Amino acid sequence: MPKELPFRIGSMLILNKTARVFSKPSKSKIYAFLRSFNFSPGTRFLHKVVLGIETSCDDTAAAVVDETGNVLGEAIHSQTEVHLKTGGIVPPVAQQLHRENIERIVQEALSASGISPGDLSAIATTIKPGLALSLGVGLSFSKQLVNQWKKPFIPIHHMEAHALTIRLTNQVEFPFLVLLISGGHCLLALVRGVSDFLLLGKSLDIAPGDMFDKVARRLSLTKHPECSSMSGGKAIEHLAKQGNRFHFDISPPMHRVKNCDFSFTGLQHVTEKIITKKEKEEGIEKGQVLSSAADLAAAVQHTAACHIAKRTHRAILFCQQRQWLSQSHAVLVVSGGVASNFYIRRALEIVTDATQCTLLCPPPRLCTDNGVMIA
Ligand code: KG4
Ligand code: ZN
Repeated sequence: MPKELPFRIGSMLILNKTARVFSKPSKSKIYAFLRSFNFSPGTRFLHKVVLGIETSCDDTAAAVVDETGNVLGEAIHSQTEVHLKTGGIVPPVAQQLHRENIERIVQEALSASGISPGDLSAIATTIKPGLALSLGVGLSFSKQLVNQWKKPFIPIHHMEAHALTIRLTNQVEFPFLVLLISGGHCLLALVRGVSDFLLLGKSLDIAPGDMFDKVARRLSLTKHPECSSMSGGKAIEHLAKQGNRFHFDISPPMHRVKNCDFSFTGLQHVTEKIITKKEKEEGIEKGQVLSSAADLAAAVQHTAACHIAKRTHRAILFCQQRQWLSQSHAVLVVSGGVASNFYIRRALEIVTDATQCTLLCPPPRLCTDNGVMIA
């Protein structure tokens, strides 16, 4: 967890200039801070502006965001196409691509914002969790900028950033429940404050996005004309629309385990076994696309959606029983790359309707890794 986090009073961020970190100010400091501004007409109000840099996995992203949450500029370079060709993320390849793109991406975000590095209030960068080689590129680039422009540095926890992104687009009060589902993560947590999280459940093995990516690879979906440039999860969602989930019966994982944890490895293996059996039946070689690929995509997506929805339902009831969440105004925030899946969102909607919760998802571009959430 980052030790120093931005402190907000309404929409105002307070910077502790001597320590070069954002910190909780005393009341007298707030009033002194407010007095230091000249609000007379014609005088430009100096907003605090933060540059955010994200390189934890396979996206090189940067954004400039002001203290009221306005996105002034953003840029992103996705490595998905390269990793699709190599059949998954190869960390040294990801590192090299981050190195090749980071300067351009940060420059693009700054140019779009019209802010020069000297006018930034701070530089925020993902420090964990993620691929060490990828994180290292963002960190050393940020270190360079911080030293060159003498700016404060804000270390960011990638999962906290995903969890709090919703507060850019919606007015969400603490506490709320968050479900983070991506290629690298799967967790359910009660968010009690900016850096106060209570973990309720996590995946015991792989994340749902990872499972989708592996199944999509085993189905050779990059060879499917409609899915060649899509991530595994996106390809599964796309194909599932054309399939019939009832053609395959895959039972949901952990249905006898009464907690909020998840598991996706079993689902991956069961699906792979069905693929091998179908390949034999259809007389096709591994590496060719099965005629039943869409039905399988629909079945695996449905089973994953049911599993995610059931665990989330249990977490909501658990929190409501303990009055950690309101019985009538509870909020469930769903984020991460897999949250852009509309079938999974629909399953979660059924759960939130049944528990009088409000379901909130950031727009798809803010669900996947991005620089805005870091800034
Ligand atoms: O959050 P993200 O951009 O990166 C991290 O993993 O942190 O999520 C990427 C993951 C990939 O595994 C991708 O297959 C999955 O999200 N994904 C989806 C969809 N779009 C992306 N999974 C299911 N349905 C989608 N539409
Ligand atoms: Zn992420």
